[in-house]
Amino acid sequence: SRQKQMLQEIPKAENHIHIEGSIPWALALELAEKNHVKLPVHSTEEIAVWSQDLISRKGLDGFMICDRTLNSVCLHEEDYEAVVLALAKEDQRQNIIYQELHLDYPLNEERGIPLKVVMEGYRSAQKKAKKLYGVEIVYIAGLDRTLSSERCLSFVKALRPYLDMVAGLGMDCEENGHPCIKHLESYREAKEMGLFLTAHAGEDGGADNIWDALLKLDVQRIDHGCRAAEHPELMEYLQEHQILCAMCPSGNVYSGAAASFEAHPLLTLLHSGVPVSISSDDPPYTCSMTEELILDAEKMGLTEAELIQIIRNGFAYSISGQHLLPQFD
Ligand code: ADE
Ligand code: ZN
Repeated sequence: SRQKQMLQEIPKAENHIHIEGSIPWALALELAEKNHVKLPVHSTEEIAVWSQDLISRKGLDGFMICDRTLNSVCLHEEDYEAVVLALAKEDQRQNIIYQELHLDYPLNEERGIPLKVVMEGYRSAQKKAKKLYGVEIVYIAGLDRTLSSERCLSFVKALRPYLDMVAGLGMDCEENGHPCIKHLESYREAKEMGLFLTAHAGEDGGADNIWDALLKLDVQRIDHGCRAAEHPELMEYLQEHQILCAMCPSGNVYSGAAASFEAHPLLTLLHSGVPVSISSDDPPYTCSMTEELILDAEKMGLTEAELIQIIRNGFAYSISGQHLLPQFD
């Protein structure tokens, strides 16, 4: 249809996607073979069945098992580079011209990979993505919130040599039992370093966690923020302070954070004046950003004006993509 074509062709900015959750399955299998890493799955068909089973049984925790398992195939600088370059090539196909990628180094640290290996691979990919595919990539360092406050703080401190490539700090992984406030010190440090601050909150945790992220960690953005829709005061705060909720409806439906597309809180937030954008989160498990927009438009009944507003927000509320707005308009 005409709307589908518009969504495919319009220049897009993606605010919320995780490298470790976005490794194309065929590439993950290739790297596993090259690096002699044993996986519990051996074909893309097996990965589809295995991941759907985990996510439907365990929700967000199931997602994280998939992320950790497939990310274990990355060992060398060139592996990390290859993953981001594969994402950038796909961006070009979808006309995503600006993308904010969460990188969760701690998932790699757990396997003994030095920070330098991961970051140099990602830095090289960032440069090549611009040259080869015309995609501007901005990294957000992600804290695996399940790790100790001390370990997360030392990760933040270790980012100092990489401030030319990392623009923000985020917090992700399993939210239940790991409230935002646990990482207050990391956010203080990151703020001092001049990083943009965001956090996953209100995904499978409650509204209190969104309030803590806003009032205690001083974040400038909320990733997901689903639970805000049940609290008028919270929506008013988000609207007043123009805090973007970087939402990923498919992921929320698959993980059970939203009951259905029709019941997804995005429309409530949008109609309350809260800035929202739409992203894919972990595209191999959900779908591409473009497919996500098409699906949400259809299932939520988004108007063309609403779709344009949402896509525009991706640039307007981005960390450093505002200069691309003329290309969008
Ligand atoms: N890491 C990858 N995907 C995630 C999600 N949906 N929520 C939290 N952390 C994640
Ligand atoms: Zn996420």
